[in-house]
Amino acid sequence: MFIRTGIIIISDKGSQGDRIDKSGPAIRQALKNKIFVVEGYQIVPDEKKSIQKALLQFTDDQKYDLIITSGGTGISPRDVTPEATKEVVDRLLPGFAEAMRMHSLTFTPHAIISRAICGTRQESLIINLPGSPKAVKECLDVVLPAIPHAIAKLKGDTTDCGDHHGL
Ligand code: MTE
Repeated sequence: MFIRTGIIIISDKGSQGDRIDKSGPAIRQALKNKIFVVEGYQIVPDEKKSIQKALLQFTDDQKYDLIITSGGTGISPRDVTPEATKEVVDRLLPGFAEAMRMHSLTFTPHAIISRAICGTRQESLIINLPGSPKAVKECLDVVLPAIPHAIAKLKGDTTDCGDHHGL
């Protein structure tokens, strides 16, 4: 089983070529040598419509199992990633976002500023991450172990959860 993955970097500067994206490579690095295959990668500006267009391409068109966004989760005037994501997901997965923030607080008190949300749309799992490469790694360390089981459940796996031996 492979987990088909799309990455969306949300950054005004990145989308205009004014900043080299370091978070995309940090995500790829965290996924390396695991069951994730990165098939899609986009950099979009901090615009709700652009973010939602990319999310819908990766969910409805490409049907990726996992979509990871990075950036725009804070409270700067242009940050709209949670608002854009909220309108696209069918169901919220609060535990993922709560766990990321809890773990992140052990590294920086600023973690509390991120409004990242996670949820599902049809059979795709969507995860917002903050924008910095450091935050990307810290957050993915927490959620990656739960993702294969979450995706299996999302796709209708009816086996008893206890049978997965923690996977
Ligand atoms: N989470 C972790 N794990 N590590 C971090 O360094 N930075 C915080 C926070 N979450 C951080 C973190 C900071 S400084 C901000 S402003 C918010 O994420 C929002 O970041 P974003 O707007 O780039 O998404």
